[in-house]
Amino acid sequence: MLRRLYHEQPENFAFTPDNLKWAEGQITKYPDGRQASAIIPLLWRAQEQEGWLSKPAIEYVADMLGLAYIRALEVASFYFMFQLQPVGSVAHIQICGTLSCMICGAEDLIKVCKEKIAEKPHEVSADGKFSWEEVECLGACTNAPMAQIGKDFYEDLTAEGFAKMLDEMAAGKVPVPGPQNGRYAAEPLSGLTTLTEYDSGRTQYNASVQLATDIGDTIKRIDGTEVPLLTPWVGKDGKVVSREVSDEPPAPAPTPKPAAKQAEEAKKVEKPKAEPKAKKPAKAAPKAKKTADVADDLKQLKGVGPKLEEKLHAAGVTRFAQIAAWGPEDVTEMDDKLSFKGRIERDGWIEQAKTLASGEETEFSKKVAKGDVYED
Ligand code: FES
Repeated sequence: MLRRLYHEQPENFAFTPDNLKWAEGQITKYPDGRQASAIIPLLWRAQEQEGWLSKPAIEYVADMLGLAYIRALEVASFYFMFQLQPVGSVAHIQICGTLSCMICGAEDLIKVCKEKIAEKPHEVSADGKFSWEEVECLGACTNAPMAQIGKDFYEDLTAEGFAKMLDEMAAGKVPVPGPQNGRYAAEPLSGLTTLTEYDSGRTQYNASVQLATDIGDTIKRIDGTEVPLLTPWVGKDGKVVSREVSDEPPAPAPTPKPAAKQAEEAKKVEKPKAEPKAKKPAKAAPKAKKTADVADDLKQLKGVGPKLEEKLHAAGVTRFAQIAAWGPEDVTEMDDKLSFKGRIERDGWIEQAKTLASGEETEFSKKVAKGDVYED
């Protein structure tokens, strides 16, 4: 299937303050020079915020990571989990149409989608609540036919049950995910034949469904305020508490203590949070002679995000005038230092820097000034 950007695009995109903090926390997971690896979580979060990935959202994420737009677009258009067109406001339904599900009734489920949602996949229903598509095997073949709705699986479906489920969702309810025919998990329909001794100690639902019902985000869009998804080194206020990147192999994890003991110890010792570590001064960059004390906002250069700006500062480059004076050798040297070969020429940093150093604006710097690109 050809995956293209949608023909109608919003004017712009920006993360909400909560999502921005969350995204910045994700970027800190990666060592310097590898921030681009945060592309999938950031695109996913942008999709969670809007329901689908627009061109401005993809470009916004690319800017945050100092990536060329085409690189972010490649990722967004490659993975089918990214929706490149608007989806239903309540849920986007993904029906598995691969072998086991097809044999067990996927076509009946698709018929329900056509009747209740829209004739064609990726079309939003008349009331704007649902959209649907057929997807490849989702790995729940023993519980075929199945559908992924939001973040969870609904398994062992029948056309009637599935239609009813859509009605419930339209009415604001969230049916319990998992098998819909009374099965606990993926055991034989006739009941357990092995491991029967574990049957008595089980929770109300199987582990996946239990977690889904406990979290309750099946069709709810996560919005940056959820505590368990924050990176451990980012406090609730979004400030980085501490981050040390070490080449040493990680120490073996301590043996877990019983929960009661942990709670008792936590009460006794409440350590103050560490201050963010001061960065090591980096070697001077070419022509990075000390200039005035006040640094320019280098993020006004298209292609320079917060992380690249940090690297430029570490290399002693803080002013547009410095960049405007770079020659070919300096560009090669800085390309190496920034680990983004060709970036300086591709994005025309030197021309941009000349304009900005002369006190004029560029199209991109105007966007930054309006807050249309990102906050820092
Ligand atoms: S065939 Fe449908 S989940 Fe595998």
